[in-house]
Amino acid sequence: MKVVVLPGDGIGAEVTNQAVKALRAVARRMELTFETTELPVGWAAIDECGQALPPFVRQACRQHDAIFLGAVGLPDRDQTLPQEQRPERAALLALREGNFANLRPIWLPPCMAQPGHPAADMLIFRELNAGIYMGGDRGRRRTDGVVEAFDTMRYSVPEIERIAHLAFEAAMERRKHLCSIDKANILATSALWRETVEGVSARYPEVSVRHQLVDSAAPAMVQHPEQFDVLLTENLFGDILSDLGGVLAGSLGMLPTASIGGDVGLFEPAHGSAPDIMGQDIANPIAAILTMAMLLEYGLDLGPAAHTVRNAVLGVIEAGYRTVDIMADGCTQVGTTQFGDLVVEQIDTT
Ligand code: IPM
Ligand code: MN
Repeated sequence: MKVVVLPGDGIGAEVTNQAVKALRAVARRMELTFETTELPVGWAAIDECGQALPPFVRQACRQHDAIFLGAVGLPDRDQTLPQEQRPERAALLALREGNFANLRPIWLPPCMAQPGHPAADMLIFRELNAGIYMGGDRGRRRTDGVVEAFDTMRYSVPEIERIAHLAFEAAMERRKHLCSIDKANILATSALWRETVEGVSARYPEVSVRHQLVDSAAPAMVQHPEQFDVLLTENLFGDILSDLGGVLAGSLGMLPTASIGGDVGLFEPAHGSAPDIMGQDIANPIAAILTMAMLLEYGLDLGPAAHTVRNAVLGVIEAGYRTVDIMADGCTQVGTTQFGDLVVEQIDTT
């Protein structure tokens, strides 16, 4: 199995190293063979070859079984480029093309939950190939001497149906509850979203469905996380709600993601490149390591290997090791590399 590894910018390389260490450990443990190819993306690629996603990298991605991406973008330097050439659009959105379903599990290990607060365990399905990010018409114009800018939010029925099916299927494997989040009181796209999800739901009579407006869903996620199992939502709402999920999971450094539905899945932690903490060995590698678990499960269909990696992460957390962002009383603070080493040790010995 061939995995392309794109460490990218900022803390991308540090956390990717830990995830690749976990991949090698699980390969040893379960007698699997992975071929990994490391390539530049983002500023790493602009500095080397003048483009955030050079054609040879894009080509290599097509020829592998799964793509692991660390993080791209460096806010200070991004501003020097037009939007279309910045790593976010030129690399990230380009790599996401075709992978219309972005899975973002929000999971707080029970041992990290505050007493009296239920631990979150939900799975966000964020639509990734349409909506306002990809609407087509966008840009700036001058009308009567006034500068204005516009983006277009657009959804078609098939675009909603295909992700809704995946979300309902996931709900069947979980607690059989699905919350579809929209702004159907205002937006035309949301009205179509709600109607279409309602139609798809008829095929899954065992799953209970709730439609909730995004402004009411956000506080409910915080106040009653136990009421959420699978969340299904469009691109921009999913972007915002998943960062809110980072609060529920203790840190953005805890959230993995998987983008699937296309020919080759793309797997990246939900956090960004965090240049302010790069090179200090303090970044939380849990999101990246759990992302590697998602790559094993969804990208390579290796459920048991994914389970081994997740269990190892849980074992290290349960043993009381924490990076600084999730440090708590009575725990042992460790750096990025040491956390990765502890996960490898767990995989090797349990
Ligand atoms: C994310 C990020 C990206 C997004 C940015 C970097 C384009 O915030 O993965 O959530 O908005 O999708
Ligand atoms: Mn985001």
